[in-house]
Parts: sequence; structure tokens; C-alpha cells
Amino acid sequence: MTVPVLCIDGPSGSGKGTITQLVAQKLGWTILDSGALYRLTALSAERQGIACNDALSLASLAATLDIEFVASAYGEPVKVLLESEDVTQAIRLETTGNNASKVAVLPEVRAALLQRQRDFRQAPGLVADGRDMGTVVFPDAPFKVFLTASAQARAERRFQQLKAQGEDVRIAHLLKEIEERDARDMGRKAAPLKAADDAVTIDTTAHSIEKVLENVLAIVSR
Ligand code: C5P
Repeated sequence: MTVPVLCIDGPSGSGKGTITQLVAQKLGWTILDSGALYRLTALSAERQGIACNDALSLASLAATLDIEFVASAYGEPVKVLLESEDVTQAIRLETTGNNASKVAVLPEVRAALLQRQRDFRQAPGLVADGRDMGTVVFPDAPFKVFLTASAQARAERRFQQLKAQGEDVRIAHLLKEIEERDARDMGRKAAPLKAADDAVTIDTTAHSIEKVLENVLAIVSR
């Protein structure tokens, strides 16, 4: 029997990460945070002085990254390790996210990460969070959700998160970054950000997390 996959795709700040964690906890399924793989590639490249457009070096780096996702006994993601170093905070920085979206444009990097992502598909099931989970990585997945929200709402959510972490940021700046990243993610030739034809689109702009969670769980239990 094939292991079921729930794909949760969408732009940055649409609530994918939160919903992925809650659904995975409810179902007892594994999580694939595919964005973290692109972030780890970007961070490792930055540390090794590899440019964001050096496709071949980046692809070989992506294929050989020594990484580990550490989860709690309840399956909650707690730490991300790169060569045994805790980089949980470092990969979440805005600069790393922006560099991730630059390396993610390269088909060579995407190809290098493809099998790594598919290897996360383990029983009893997988919740895969990303941009191309339903279109490219798990096209045969039985459950596909595409989360959206207005750019303004996403910038405000990010602002609240960063403020809570004590960072001094401006909404206007975050909004500009989100719009730039959306344009890059949607405009690229390789696996652009878009809903799979068989995905259910949920606009989270005006919905609570609880409501979105309820809708997503209903899709899995259909
Ligand atoms: O989801 P997250 O913000 O962590 O992803 C960082 C960047 O990695 C995204 O802006 C996107 O460019 C890229 N990405 C991707 N495909 C995925 C996941 C992330 O291109 N499946």
C-alpha cells in the first residue's frame, strides 16, 4: 500500500508551517519542511562562499548536505542540524529566506533535492509543506491543499512573529520582501509556485488557525 501524503503548498506566510505541524500532530504523520532544505542549501552556500547563481556547485552541495531534523517524542519539530550544528535560528533569518528563494530558482538545485524530499514518505503518512509538493514532488498524493492569504495579511503575521522575537522591523519593508519573493517563486521556470489542478485552495486571510485546521482535516478524512 502506498503511504498517504498531504501536500500543503502556498506562498510565504500563508500559514503552511503552522497548519502542517498541527495536522501532523493530530494524525501522527511525519513532516517534510521542504523550505528548510532550500534554506539549508542557501545557508551552507553562504558559509562556503558559493554564489547564489553557481548552479553546479549549489547542486552538488544540495545533494550532499549533512542535515538532521530533530523532533520531540510527539513529532513536534524542535531542531535543525547542519553538520551537527544547531542552525534552527540561522535558517529562519530573512536573509536566508531570500537567498533560499534565489537558489530555488535553479533547476539543478531542485533536481538535487527531489529524491531527498521523496525519502520522507514513510508510514503511517507524510504532511509535506512547500511550493511544489502537489505539482512536482508528490504528484500522486491523495490530498492536496493550497493555502493563500493577501500579501498585506502575510506581512502583518510575519511582523508579529519577528516583533515577538525582539526584532526591529517595518511592515512596509516586510511587505516589499514578500512581494519580491512571491514574484520570484511564481515567475520561475522550474516548478513555479502554483496550486496543483487537484488541490483545494483555502484563503486564510480572514480565517482563524482553528478554522483552517478543521477544513484541512476534513479533506484528509474524506
Ligand atoms: O517555505 P520557506 O519560506 O521556508 O521557503 C523558503 C524558500 O524556498 C521559498 O521562498 C521558495 O523560494 C523556496 N522553496 C521552493 N520550493 C519548496 C519550498 C521552498 O522553491 N518546495
